[in-house]
Amino acid sequence: MTEILDVHSHILPGIDDGAPSGKMSVEMLRTASEQGIRRIIATPHYSAFFQNTDPGRIRGLCRGLNRKAVKEGIPCRVYPGQEIMYSENALERLNRGELLTMAGSRYILIEFEPSVPYSFIYMAIRNCATQGYSPILAHVERYRSVYAPGKAQELIGQGAHLQMNFRSIVGRWNDDTARWCRKMLKQKNIHFLGTDMHNMTTRTPDVTRPLKWIERHLEADYSEQILWKNAAMILADKKIQ
Ligand SMILES: [Fe+2]
Repeated sequence: MTEILDVHSHILPGIDDGAPSGKMSVEMLRTASEQGIRRIIATPHYSAFFQNTDPGRIRGLCRGLNRKAVKEGIPCRVYPGQEIMYSENALERLNRGELLTMAGSRYILIEFEPSVPYSFIYMAIRNCATQGYSPILAHVERYRSVYAPGKAQELIGQGAHLQMNFRSIVGRWNDDTARWCRKMLKQKNIHFLGTDMHNMTTRTPDVTRPLKWIERHLEADYSEQILWKNAAMILADKKIQ
């Protein structure tokens, strides 16, 4: 079975719009592990709606979920992280230790409003890199301003890493987003994939169909990079080759 390291999830209970209960967190963890997901970075929101500024709470919830995983024999472990709605203020909070990087590394997962202008993302990536962080653009397919030719590559050149959601790869035949996602993957512009799981109904840990597409269309070496190897570099706090 293909092993997967998931860098984007809302699996921790009662902390954002993700898992509503500890019971569902365990259910999500079990379903994820049944599909080969072996490690998950929990990335609860920091945004206007969810002001999660207590890293101790996030770390504690990860420890609790890992204890349950051991008890239930689920072969998957959870690491603390955060999905940060970018602003200069958020970067200051990060510097003060009020927000979490990815699994204690210099990598940070940042998101924007879907309508964000390209120039704003560009500036944000520069700001993160200048302050010593390795920014990962969460669900890059959500930002239409990055679809213009050469823009994704330009952001990568400025130090950005691009994360795509598994389910965005498998839209319908006339789905612009899916088409762009597949093109980006074939051009090897994507560094990480994530489930962005929120629950067991609408945004689940299911990766069956996206995995099939990946196996059929991408080179084995590159697949291994985006499913595991690159994300393992986050846990090791090393640069991606
Ligand atoms: Fe998310």
